[in-house]
Amino acid sequence: MSDAAVLMDRIYVWQTGIYDLTRKPYLLGRDRLIASLAPPDGGQVLEIGCGTGRNLVEAAQRWPHANFHGFDISSVMLNKAVSTIAKAGLSWQVELARGDATCFPTNLFRIEQFDRIFFSYTLSMIPAWEQALDHAVSRLAPGGALMIADFGDQRDLPKSFRTLLRRWLALFHVEPRDHLEDVIRDVAARHGLKADFVRLYGGYTFLAALRRSS
Ligand SMILES: C[S@@+](CC[C@H](N)C(=O)[O-])C[C@H]1O[C@@H](n2cnc3c(N)ncnc32)[C@H](O)[C@@H]1O
Repeated sequence: MSDAAVLMDRIYVWQTGIYDLTRKPYLLGRDRLIASLAPPDGGQVLEIGCGTGRNLVEAAQRWPHANFHGFDISSVMLNKAVSTIAKAGLSWQVELARGDATCFPTNLFRIEQFDRIFFSYTLSMIPAWEQALDHAVSRLAPGGALMIADFGDQRDLPKSFRTLLRRWLALFHVEPRDHLEDVIRDVAARHGLKADFVRLYGGYTFLAALRRSS
């Protein structure tokens, strides 16, 4: 097991039971991202760093004509996701695996390219997040979109709130990527993609979409 996997297991081992309840108030924008996925019928959708499987359940119910796949580096999170998906009766529609965002292989789900790929509050936990972003883009099908929801720069929020939030997040090895928009623009330019951004709640949340033409 890699150091990153050991660390994630250590962070989450006591939290999987309370994760969804405790994160609901502050992992904002996730449902907005899911609503915007709009995969083609029969399309392939991938969540990178799927955690407890909460997003995959919401997405599979919202888009019943697409196929969903998710992976996570943490085995404790992945075990939780397996039970979440089974309880929702969605094991036929959602496939799970263990993998690392920075280097997941093409045979992880036997699918070369995905119509939609999303990162939800995952890039802020991956030290080599720029590498993960590049790797994901390389797996995007023509006409596909890569979507991101994560912490923003909190530029328009009170400084004291920003400081406290960052101290709190650091306890969980979460670091908002203040240059996310610049990096996404650079990725878009290098790969010939169209990029769209939305800042929500004073920059608390950042949503982005990178689209590949068909
Ligand atoms: C804050 S949680 C978000 C989970 C889920 N996406 C959500 O929105 O509820 C971040 C997840 O990313 C996973 N993760 C961290 N580093 C990873 C990596 N290198 N590859 C894959 N998953 C990773 C963690 O194990 C954790 O489940």
